[in-house]
Amino acid sequence: MTRLIVFSSGKGGVGKTTITTNLGAALHKFGKDVVVVDGNVSTPNVSVILGMPRLPITLHDVLAGKAKINQSIYLHPSGLKVIPAGLSVKHLSMKRRKKMAHVLNDLIGETEFALIDCAAGLGNEAKQAIEAGDELILVTNPEIHALTDALKTYEFAKRLGIKPLGVILNRVSNKNWEMTKENVEEFLELPVVGIIPEDECVKKSIAMKKPLIYAFPNSPASRAIKKIAARMIGEDYRTLEPETITQKILRIFGIY
Ligand SMILES: Nc1ncnc2c1ncn2[C@@H]1O[C@H](COP(=O)(O)OP(=O)(O)OP(=O)(O)O)[C@@H](O)[C@H]1O
Ligand SMILES: [Mg+2]
Repeated sequence: MTRLIVFSSGKGGVGKTTITTNLGAALHKFGKDVVVVDGNVSTPNVSVILGMPRLPITLHDVLAGKAKINQSIYLHPSGLKVIPAGLSVKHLSMKRRKKMAHVLNDLIGETEFALIDCAAGLGNEAKQAIEAGDELILVTNPEIHALTDALKTYEFAKRLGIKPLGVILNRVSNKNWEMTKENVEEFLELPVVGIIPEDECVKKSIAMKKPLIYAFPNSPASRAIKKIAARMIGEDYRTLEPETITQKILRIFGIY
């Protein structure tokens, strides 16, 4: 069975692309067949942060009816499968004749997980990506405006009958002005399925064009993402990836 999971938010820049890409890489590392889809068709980032910027056939070609979805799947060196969106400005004006939900439906049976990175907000493009998912993970930062925007997205997804898996709280610093896990659960009436700390290794990994979970496997955000991946497949993270004494020493001394 293929799980089509869309990663959405209200506010932009909360970490959807970082999380979708790295959760995909983590699920693949744990033995799952995964494709990450860049469903943010006007400002796509997935292929850029994975260091695969020049791919000839993209989701835009599939949406335009010029290629089949299978022709737009590429293999990252880690083994993760990726469907990129076109990066050039000409792709913005490309006529999209097909619905994203329609073309991504063809992934059913081809992979275990299709993780769809979505545009922020509730514009037409974001709505199309949300409609393409069977399940939804909301990504937010622990700030009131990010949460109020996330609520609107959730309400939209609920009306479509998309199953909400929960909320990922990203860039958490545990400052006393931040919304807590309990605040978020009460406000959105959804469980928090993962808390990812503010971690400078995220930006370093993006500059290195490598998934965080490979560039800094022991960094706090990396471990948090792998915990979420383990939870998504009903496994215990520490069983999947037992920590060696050296790793423990490096982690405790902040050497990632
Ligand atoms: N846990 C984190 N710690 C530190 N920086 C982070 C973390 N998560 C994301 N970032 C940074 O936040 C910025 C936005 O991340 P990202 O592009 O993943 O967000 P997005 O929600 O996909 O944005 P958009 O809505 O524009 O598509 C990036 O610079 C990224 O490096
Ligand atoms: Mg993004």
